[in-house]
Amino acid sequence: MIYLDNAATTMHKPPCVVRAVTEALESLGNCGRGVNEGSLSAARVIYAAREKLAEFLGCPEPDRVCFTSNSTEALNTAIFGLLGPEDHVISTDLEHNSVLRPLYRLEAEGMGLDFLAADRQGNVDYGQLPRLLRPNTRAIVCTHASNLTGNTLDLPRLGAFAREHGLLFVVDASQSAGSLPLDMTAYGISVLCFTGHKGLMGPQGTGGLCVAPGVEIRPLKTGGTGVQSHRKDQPEAYPTRLEAGTLNGHGIAGLSAALDWIRDTGRPAIHRWETQRMEQFYRGVRDVPGVTVYGDFTRERAPIVALNIGDMGSSQAADILSSEYGIAVRSGAHCAPRMHQALGTTQQGAVRFSFGWFNTPEEVDQAVAAVRSIAEE
Ligand code: ALA
Repeated sequence: MIYLDNAATTMHKPPCVVRAVTEALESLGNCGRGVNEGSLSAARVIYAAREKLAEFLGCPEPDRVCFTSNSTEALNTAIFGLLGPEDHVISTDLEHNSVLRPLYRLEAEGMGLDFLAADRQGNVDYGQLPRLLRPNTRAIVCTHASNLTGNTLDLPRLGAFAREHGLLFVVDASQSAGSLPLDMTAYGISVLCFTGHKGLMGPQGTGGLCVAPGVEIRPLKTGGTGVQSHRKDQPEAYPTRLEAGTLNGHGIAGLSAALDWIRDTGRPAIHRWETQRMEQFYRGVRDVPGVTVYGDFTRERAPIVALNIGDMGSSQAADILSSEYGIAVRSGAHCAPRMHQALGTTQQGAVRFSFGWFNTPEEVDQAVAAVRSIAEE
């Protein structure tokens, strides 16, 4: 199989990740639940992962890196833990349902919600931001990169606007962490939500949120923490505050190994390779008669190319790519309904090719040839 669905998950992992999970399965107890060697090993592995993530994502303290099972849980924790019906929030048309659905639920309870609109290229006009401000605007909640087009938002610019107007700035880094430059402190981010299984190359079931100093999130979950067990309420200190229940120590061990691998390989080198594969594909398909490519390829972006072939349904095209060419892509709506509306692809969906470290130039050539041949037919 030629795997070009890295925006859904990086299916191929560095071998050290597989080894770390196996070793963890054989040796880790329950972190924070005892002083036996297994429990202490788990605590050490998990704390090391917090340290690496804090360093990698620009979070000022390792204890402000809180683990969740994915970025959806991290975003739900941030959105429901910071915002309420009395507030107003600014988001964007680029969002995934992991941002949209929590916001829509709060909107149904009375919260004000406005979107920075995207144009047909999937770009937003930052000049519209002041017009969206209201006296009760409390936060900007947005993605770093669209999971459909790969277009990025200008986080430093949005962070500066948030700071100027005293807003919280909550960022979904699901499609960028591990690939694009990201520094939550430098960009003025209040809460950075990440997943472990995409660009960070770790196992599924890992993710989390980095919380800036002074940001107090009401816990979404309460329960066992292994500390302060006689209290009726959830302990206040991070990360325990947001980590009720047993952590995914085995997955976090894999994520920790992945972070070592990214450090040794070099994030810029990874981003360069993925971008080269994306550009190789883009150059190969953009002028093929009948092919429409979406997104803006003139700026820094995530390594994604979304396209359609004539008026063929995107699911049909993905089926042909899989069954006749052995190429794995994602079609349909990508959990990004507003982005599809902006692109005019709500009915057709789009065929998304997303590139990763393990893709070779030969694989990309084969994908270009497949698109050409389907378009010719
Ligand atoms: N959110 C993931 C995607 O875009 C699963 O495919």
